Amino acid sequence: GVKIVTIGGGSSYTPELMEGFIKRYEELPIREIWLVDIEDGKEKLEIVGKMAQRMWDASPYDVKIHLTLDRQKALKDADFVTTQFRVGLLEARIKDERIPAYYGMLGQETNGAGGMFKAFRTIPVILDIVEDMKRLCPDAWLVNFTNPSGMVTEAVIRYGKWDKVVGLCNVPVMAMMVEPELLGVKTEDLIYKFAGLNHFHWHKVADKHGKDVTLEIINKMYEGDAGLPTNIHDIPFYKEQLKQMNMIPCGYHRYYYREEEMLAYALEEYKTIGTRAQQVKQTETELFDLYRDPHLDHKPEQLAKRGGAHYSDAACETIASIHANKNTHIVVSTKNNGAVPDLPSDCVVEVSAYLGAQGARAIAFGKLPAAERGWLQVMKNMELVTIEAAVTGNYGTALQAFTINPMVRSGDTARKILDELLLAHKKYLPQF
Ligand code: NAD
Ligand code: G6P
Ligand code: MN
Repeated sequence: GVKIVTIGGGSSYTPELMEGFIKRYEELPIREIWLVDIEDGKEKLEIVGKMAQRMWDASPYDVKIHLTLDRQKALKDADFVTTQFRVGLLEARIKDERIPAYYGMLGQETNGAGGMFKAFRTIPVILDIVEDMKRLCPDAWLVNFTNPSGMVTEAVIRYGKWDKVVGLCNVPVMAMMVEPELLGVKTEDLIYKFAGLNHFHWHKVADKHGKDVTLEIINKMYEGDAGLPTNIHDIPFYKEQLKQMNMIPCGYHRYYYREEEMLAYALEEYKTIGTRAQQVKQTETELFDLYRDPHLDHKPEQLAKRGGAHYSDAACETIASIHANKNTHIVVSTKNNGAVPDLPSDCVVEVSAYLGAQGARAIAFGKLPAAERGWLQVMKNMELVTIEAAVTGNYGTALQAFTINPMVRSGDTARKILDELLLAHKKYLPQF
């Protein structure tokens, strides 16, 4: 039987993960699941851990959930390690979002100054986890969900020297679920090809005869549900621009293609209903109230209010595909290896790949047109500088990363935001 370890097990997404494993039990026969958390998440871990056990008890399968704050004990002989932790919990995310907003810039979970600070806090922790894995479960696969998912995956490979890693996101899953409906067909009737970076990729779609249908989807996107996660405000893309690129940008591209409007909305939200993190805190409280109910033994509807809906379809399918060598098409963050020739072959990209016993084999996408190539190269290098700052704790490198990030207007205000975030997160940034 398979041993799964989930770090950040106290997350409200854990029932989503359990549902995905229960659904796939026949091809992925799990023996035990270890949910790991830290002292600050102890209460959440207890509540959601009991909920997870009830879900298995209500299933035909005999799987035991272990709850622990001892990561090393959990990691011993693991087959798969999934990561869904948030260093500093939602309180830290509130700061990532509010401090830049106070200065009139975007603070977002994975974009702008806030996303960079999430990387600064997270990368030292993931590198520690990798060191533990080298000693305790050297054959295990690391399936990362922790944001910023692409940068975290890149750090694992580049600085952790650990190649058995797959980075995931639910955004491509949602697109592949909803877009076929717009055309009145099934997902398996379409051929998908994604390329770019996490939260910064584009995709093309063809029908089963190989005919490109991207433009048809673009036209329909304006009429119905295009699969945008709930956390992103829906300012529409300019249709002329999408027609010109003949690719579908991911939902997060709005922050770059409609920066003015997305920033204005975020600042308005911050002054009125509160930042996304503050809204999510409310949802989290509601979810944990539900999880406390000893009769609840299935994932509640309310979890769909979180942006990460359908997360398990990526995570559990990845694990099942590696375990059973299924060679399924999944969009993952993995080493480029030439799939996106506009970027170095040793960096991490988010691309369509076949997942099997060897991990991810990226599908070649080919060169991108000048406009997309320009964005991609800036964003990848922004990620690389951010990761370097996270590893070294060098102030000048952090300033360089801020300067290259398109969401950060450079100058004295940017420096103030950097200094204030460094102070606000001091406890979680020992490297600086
Ligand atoms: P959360 O605030 O509930 O945090 C999850 C758990 O992590 C908490 O119980 C917390 O105590 C724990 N934790 C914090 N530091 C830890 C550490 N050092 N070791 C072990 N556990 C630790 O977060 P959430 O809203 O459930 O999100 C979890 C993570 O998943 C975040 O990083 C989020 O950005 C990410 N996420 C990613 C996607 C994606 O598309 N890749 C989708 C949804 C969420
Ligand atoms: C999307 C993204 C995730 C992100 C989430 C935020 O699904 O893919 O990477 O973590 O939204 O959702 P939240 O409910 O926390 O704002
Ligand atoms: Mn994501």
